[in-house]
Amino acid sequence: MKFFIDTADIAEIKEAHALGILDGVTTNPSLIKKSGRPFKDVAKEICDLVDGPVSLEVTAVDCEGMLKEAAELAQYGDNVVIKLPLIPEGLKACKRLTEQGVKTNVTLCFSPVQALLAAKAGASYISPFVGRLDDIGQNGMEIIPQIRQIYDNYGFETEVLVASIRNPIHVLDAALAGADVSTIPFSVFKQLVHHPLTDKGLAQFLKDWKEVKA
Ligand code: G3P
Repeated sequence: MKFFIDTADIAEIKEAHALGILDGVTTNPSLIKKSGRPFKDVAKEICDLVDGPVSLEVTAVDCEGMLKEAAELAQYGDNVVIKLPLIPEGLKACKRLTEQGVKTNVTLCFSPVQALLAAKAGASYISPFVGRLDDIGQNGMEIIPQIRQIYDNYGFETEVLVASIRNPIHVLDAALAGADVSTIPFSVFKQLVHHPLTDKGLAQFLKDWKEVKA
């Protein structure tokens, strides 16, 4: 499973990148706002920093507007993936961009049938939001194996990119369900590596090592 980081904060991206296991970056308008920086500066910097795919989201809500924005976003780097909302106009834009050979990430997916539509439109990635489903009392992770099965049934190559991840259990469940990618906030990224028994065990090894004669 690939690891993307879900942020527009350059310091966070650098720290995750330094681990050597970062495969890409996803952003959205809210994350850009949170960065507090002009969009153009942030987008360019992220695309230069990371070799892997960088999702940049359109804000137009009509197909022609989305295509126009996609052409502008593509100029930030060869690794740009155009993020499109899962609305009828977004599906139309996805189909058109796919025909032009442009990579797409269809976002704001909350059901397996929506994911099927995105795959039929040729999406490179589908982003089901598991955390936001949990927030309204549904088990968000339930839709991931369902999407996996639908895609496998029909041989769709759209990658399942689990988004709106809130904790390490989401990452575990995404991997068990055979998701292609998890896009992970920096706070959860840091949680993934730590285990109290690792820290305790290492402290004991280092303590004992001091008492070993050379
Ligand atoms: O980038 C899309 C998604 O990961 C957003 O997550 O935490 O705002 O629901 P969240």
